Amino acid sequence: MELINRQIEEYTESFTSNESEILMELIKASEENLEYTDMLTGRQVGRLLKFLIQLSGAQRILEIGTFTGYSAISMAEVLPEDGTLITLEMNEKYRQISKSFFEREPFNKLINQKMGNALEIIPTLSGVFDLIFLDADKLSYPTYYEMLKPKLKSGGLFVIDNVLWDGDVLRPSTEKSRAIHRLNKIVRDDMDVEQLMLPLRDGVTVVRRK
Ligand SMILES: C[S@@+](CC[C@H](N)C(=O)[O-])C[C@H]1O[C@@H](n2cnc3c(N)ncnc32)[C@H](O)[C@@H]1O
Repeated sequence: MELINRQIEEYTESFTSNESEILMELIKASEENLEYTDMLTGRQVGRLLKFLIQLSGAQRILEIGTFTGYSAISMAEVLPEDGTLITLEMNEKYRQISKSFFEREPFNKLINQKMGNALEIIPTLSGVFDLIFLDADKLSYPTYYEMLKPKLKSGGLFVIDNVLWDGDVLRPSTEKSRAIHRLNKIVRDDMDVEQLMLPLRDGVTVVRRK
């Protein structure tokens, strides 16, 4: 399903601030090395993440699903010098691309990538986070929410991508769309949080822990 009229999508994107040079370079490297790059978070969600970090003053961030590093670099670009971004990824091929960007200054001091299954790594992470960006396997979205909620500080933000799954959540007919719809209901019914679901790109929910 076309969620947003293509021309409107192009228009809104063209009136959203441009990416930095490093992000453009990262897109190019992803396109040159991978057959599909549609998992890249993209300019609008990337900018939303940046704004949320700048407005909230978030300093300790957790990302689930690095891919080639677009959202991680976007967020790290606005982190203070003593900020930290832990990003989890299980696919070595994607890491080969993100690595050359994460090794550069100042990202080498800000980004800590952990390789492996996020479902196994999350329980080993200590402390709480100011912002958590969830963008990994959709079937596990409800499990991730339950696992990650205790790791979000009071007043912290949880940003969840692909919550509309191409519109399939309206009539969920696949395992993935059913899992995302279940997550959406869990968030809606959770009295510990306030949330705003945005029909931005493939749908983004911004959740604030009370
Ligand atoms: C939609 S992409 C992330 C896009 C990324 N945020 C960006 O800005 O380009 C989802 C990523 O999650 C990774 N992933 C999926 N399941 C995972 C798991 N259980 N543990 C760790 N990473 C996982 C995939 O390999 C993929 O790179």
